[in-house]
Amino acid sequence: MDILIDSEIIQARVRELAAEIERDYPAGEEIHLVGVLKGGFVFMADLVRAMSARVTMDFIAVSSYAQSTRSSGEVRMLKDLDSGLEGRHVIIVEDIVDTGLTLTYLQDILRARSPRSLKTACLLSKPSRRLVDVTVDYTGFTIEDKFVVGYGLDYAEKYRNLAYIAVLNNG
Ligand code: IMP
Ligand code: MG
Repeated sequence: MDILIDSEIIQARVRELAAEIERDYPAGEEIHLVGVLKGGFVFMADLVRAMSARVTMDFIAVSSYAQSTRSSGEVRMLKDLDSGLEGRHVIIVEDIVDTGLTLTYLQDILRARSPRSLKTACLLSKPSRRLVDVTVDYTGFTIEDKFVVGYGLDYAEKYRNLAYIAVLNNG
C-alpha cells in the first residue's frame, strides 16, 4: 500500500473545511451534520471537533459497494436518521464521491425532508468516475481513479482505521 495523503495533510485540510463551513453560516445558527456510515465516520469525527458548539449531528447508513472495488450502482438504506430535518441547516458528510450515485440518492431523500438548506461535504472526490452530475459544496481532495483506503474508507471492511489515505494496489 502506498500512502497517497498523509495524516498531517488530511488534518490541515479538515481544519480548513471546518473554518470554511463556519464562515458560510450566519453566526449562532445551528448546523446539523449528517454523517454517512460507515466510511464518513472518521472525517465526521475530525470535522466536528474543529467546529464550534453550534453543531449537532446524526448518522445515516447506506450501502453501495458489496465487498468489491467496483460500484454496483445500487444504493440501499441500512439505517435512517434518528431525527427530522425540517427547517435545519443540513450538511451531508461523506468519505468519497465516486460515480455520484450514492450522494445523489442521499441528497434526494434528505431534500424531501424539507431542510432549511442542504449542502454536502466530501473528503475525497474522483471526478473522472462520475456517472451523474452531483453538487459537492466542500471537497477535501480531488484524486485520480484509484481505489483508496484508510481514514474511514475500507476494502472489505478493513483499513478504515488508518490515519492516512493509501492506494490499494491489488484491489
Ligand atoms: P458512488 O456511489 O460511486 O459515488 O460511491 C460512493 C461510495 O463508494 C463511497 O461512499 C464509498 O463508500 C465507496 N467508494 C468509492 N470509491 C472508493 C474507494 O476508492 N475506496 C473505498 N470506498 C470507495
Ligand atoms: Mg461511503
